[in-house]
Amino acid sequence: MKNQITQILYPLLKKNKRGFFTIFIFSIIVSLGGAFQPYIIQNIIDNALIKQNLYLLYILVGLSFFLALILISIRSVNEIFYTNFSMNILFTFRQKVFKKLFLHKKSFLNTFHSADLMTRVQGDINELQRFFTDSFLALFSTFLSLIIISCIIYSYNIKLMLLILVFLPIEFMCVKPLYKYMHNSTKDMREKTSDTTKFFVQSLQNLTFFKTLGAQNFILNSLDDVQEEYKKTVIKNKKLNIVFTQIPALISLLGKTIILAYGGYLTIKGELKIGELVAFLTYFGMLLSPVHTVLGILNNIPKVKVSLKRVSEILPKKEENATSLDGQNYDLKVKKLSFSYNKNRIFEDINLDIKENQKIALIGKNGKGKSTLTDLLCSIENPTSGEIFIGSTNIVEKNIKNIADYIVKMEQIPVMFDGTLKENLLLSNKNIEDEKIINVLKLVKMYDWYKSLENGLDSRLIEAGRNLSVGQKQRLSLARILLLKPKIVILDEFTSSIDKEDTKWFFENIDKLFSDMTVIVITHQLDMLDIFDFVYTIEDKKIKRS
Ligand SMILES: Nc1ncnc2c1ncn2[C@@H]1O[C@H](COP(=O)(O)OP(=O)(O)OP(=O)(O)O)[C@@H](O)[C@H]1O
Ligand SMILES: [Mg+2]
Repeated sequence: MKNQITQILYPLLKKNKRGFFTIFIFSIIVSLGGAFQPYIIQNIIDNALIKQNLYLLYILVGLSFFLALILISIRSVNEIFYTNFSMNILFTFRQKVFKKLFLHKKSFLNTFHSADLMTRVQGDINELQRFFTDSFLALFSTFLSLIIISCIIYSYNIKLMLLILVFLPIEFMCVKPLYKYMHNSTKDMREKTSDTTKFFVQSLQNLTFFKTLGAQNFILNSLDDVQEEYKKTVIKNKKLNIVFTQIPALISLLGKTIILAYGGYLTIKGELKIGELVAFLTYFGMLLSPVHTVLGILNNIPKVKVSLKRVSEILPKKEENATSLDGQNYDLKVKKLSFSYNKNRIFEDINLDIKENQKIALIGKNGKGKSTLTDLLCSIENPTSGEIFIGSTNIVEKNIKNIADYIVKMEQIPVMFDGTLKENLLLSNKNIEDEKIINVLKLVKMYDWYKSLENGLDSRLIEAGRNLSVGQKQRLSLARILLLKPKIVILDEFTSSIDKEDTKWFFENIDKLFSDMTVIVITHQLDMLDIFDFVYTIEDKKIKRS
């Protein structure tokens, strides 16, 4: 599973190696420049102050000032470059994961709450990207700083150098046993964050719904519960984090104290000059900083493992063969198809044959599988066994890239999204003139409504079309299908919220509206069945032509 993420990340990181290299060069300059500062201070103390050389003092202070200025500038440029670079990697990474989400079947996606998917796609991907880019770079520059500063310290005093080398592994060994707890706590944190988002998405979207049911207290109490749970997890995580960060700090303090005492002893004995001791202590501080960076990276491993697992879980386990339909004919044929949702068997060995341009009605009681059958035909669900042909191509277990040119379904519950009316109607199909769109709006009898809009086709449909009635949403969904013009159209209870008079009109005009298309209408409108070529009924896991 993890391999999938490596397969996405590795080429991405490799492609950006020039960016890494640039940042690496910046880091070398900053490390070298930074390492030079304590050496200047040492000379100020030992050669300018103690020997009372005012001229040398001014030169060294000036030098130190300009060096600091240059380093600040380089650091600032590097930071902007790095932010840009890091964002590019994050966004491309997310794009690639997002693209893979489209490969999933509906029943798999339905096992996740949308808020859960959201935290995985946002938070967990952020975490992974941060780790893989920041850590690489931090390791590069840390390694470099370690070498430079170790060499400098070594040149001062070998015994002090050895003393430091003893302390560094101790820090790591002290935090290592805590990894397991950190892993579990991070997992809890992510899950609780997900629960909180879930709660907000659900309750805020339906505030007035809960109010009309008098359920304000129910929601407020749920908010209390969710927040209380979240608080508990955060506090537990915070405590662990404190132990995680403070153990190294304590050990560093111990190290500094010993070095100060021992270094002081050497200075008093005349083996080390005062300036050298000051420089040495500064170098020691500088050495600790990269060491803590490495420790920070190591400490992030448990968190990254959690994110790795959470992102892996939403990636497709296997990728279906990508193909395109290019058949001249678009007859639909279902052969020996069976389908179950887990243990719930919906279809048992069904066959179906629909020739192009036929107008078909699909009827059956609630929950018998009408919508499910059309999900299978549109390839957003895979059958448990059997074959589905569009023309001569079996679409089962395949990723058909141009499936929407052939078969499109108008969902039972109309879907509108936050965007302009035109965007909602055209989706990716941008080459349609406004005049044509307006004609279609006339066909679905939405022209009067359209004329009342201040900004015409550029008017915004707010969040999921909340500024529309359900019947209006159904009409716009119908308009969308008419503009997409696929070869096979599935209309799932497309007039369930449309008034009686227009429902009759739509049914009677199916032939005209969809003249060169196959049409499959799912309906409970049993008085309208006469206009269809054939009527199919789903019953007892079978489909029968009547
Ligand atoms: N994502 C799912 N996971 C598990 N079971 C599901 C899922 N979607 C539908 N079902 C079950 O599959 C059966 C068929 O559902 P489907 O939506 O296809 O019925 P339908 O014939 O379209 O009903 P309706 O007339 O109410 O729209 C139902 O028993 C339903 O509970
Ligand atoms: Mg249905």
